[in-house]
Amino acid sequence: MEKLVIKGGRPLKGKVTISGAKNATVAIIPAALLANGVCTLENLPMIKDVVVLREIIEQMGARVSFSENGTMKIDASRLEQPYIDNGLVKELRASYYLLGALLARFGRVTMAYPGGCDIGVRPIDQHIKGFKALGAEVEIEHGMISVKADKLVGNEIFLDVVSVGATINIMIAATMAEGTTIIENAAKEPHVVDVASFLNSIGAEVKGAGTDVIKIKGKSSFYGSTYMVIPDQIEAGTYMIAAASIPGGDVTINNVIPKHLDSITAKLIEMGAEVQVNGESIRVMSNDRLKSVDVKTLPYPGFPTDLQQPMTSTLTVANGISMVTESIWEGRFKHVDELKRMGANIKVEGRVAVIEGTDVLTGARVSATDLRAGAALVIAGLLAQGETEVVNLFHIDRGYENIEGKLRDLGADIVRKQL
Ligand code: EPZ
Repeated sequence: MEKLVIKGGRPLKGKVTISGAKNATVAIIPAALLANGVCTLENLPMIKDVVVLREIIEQMGARVSFSENGTMKIDASRLEQPYIDNGLVKELRASYYLLGALLARFGRVTMAYPGGCDIGVRPIDQHIKGFKALGAEVEIEHGMISVKADKLVGNEIFLDVVSVGATINIMIAATMAEGTTIIENAAKEPHVVDVASFLNSIGAEVKGAGTDVIKIKGKSSFYGSTYMVIPDQIEAGTYMIAAASIPGGDVTINNVIPKHLDSITAKLIEMGAEVQVNGESIRVMSNDRLKSVDVKTLPYPGFPTDLQQPMTSTLTVANGISMVTESIWEGRFKHVDELKRMGANIKVEGRVAVIEGTDVLTGARVSATDLRAGAALVIAGLLAQGETEVVNLFHIDRGYENIEGKLRDLGADIVRKQL
């Protein structure tokens, strides 16, 4: 077991390079199982979720190599039975994309029910609705989910909620359905677009990704391709928020798509930070104590739920009262109790947190309850006076590549130690 030890109070200065997008990668790896040739995926993040997915697909017979520079080669031509009965599936939510991919490829799949961050009820009814609309039968028994179809046939599917996972999963399954599938009320997140672009690179015909209507014309086979995954919007946003948090910060964040970060840029400017966009870089500067703001999480292009927790940490020391409304996940305020141990003034009522900014947080031993809660506590540690210890790092390692190394390069006093 490891912990991060942070001595806070130092403004962040310098340059940081953003890794490939976790939430695109974890869908593109399963989608690569559709190809008959070798898929070369570039710019993948070196994170635990990717390592676990690799292990799952290798156990199924895929041949995989993964090099230090983030390039993964996947040859799924000898994939075996679409049955995955092991604990690895429970380690990440995104294992649900194996349902769509294996349903498309084999017409059937049985696997353990997916796990992932504990941030509230995480239903997959919209994924199931989509599979059924394509002609599949779905059974959930003894912790296993089975999806099978004699033949997948394209259909029109209106999602009841805007779901990233359901949009991507149905899109993947529909690539091999007979005829055309139309997904309405589709999610528009950058990673939805990236998965569609990858599918098109292996021969699929997906149109409209990035809007709320996606059309997929089914094909019977796919070939290998070389594909570069987009930069991680949430990792970039995390460093933007961290940079703005401590007065005197001046950080250039490289390898970003600034458009994906518009909602964060706007919020940081509203709080008094300076943000400059320059090609594929964003520079964030903070001269004074930030001002309080209200934040409401929404599907893209709104403020992302995955940055609500890091932003909450920053608002604990902003000048004034802020209101944070979490409209996607009802259980995403678990970091608040930990922030209170550091002196934060926060009251949570249902999906709303009211934060009264304090002059200073003080270091404490805190525990990451989920991935972005972990990032939030690291930011709190950077802000706080004295020493903060963050434990339960496995959550953070699921989604952030070398977080302590990147922060150290920005001048933070942060080290990873054995507990
Ligand atoms: C993805 O989760 C991300 N995970 C999450 O990021 C992110 O918080 C979320 O999208 C929202 O942006 C991955 O991409 C692997 P959803 P996902 O389906 O797809 C409800 C992180 O920190 N819903 O868009 O599982 C659901 O309850 C992680 O990186 C249904 O009701 O989220 C939620 O309220 C955490 N039925 C809303 O929709 C369904 O069938 C959005 O969920 C599916 C979802």
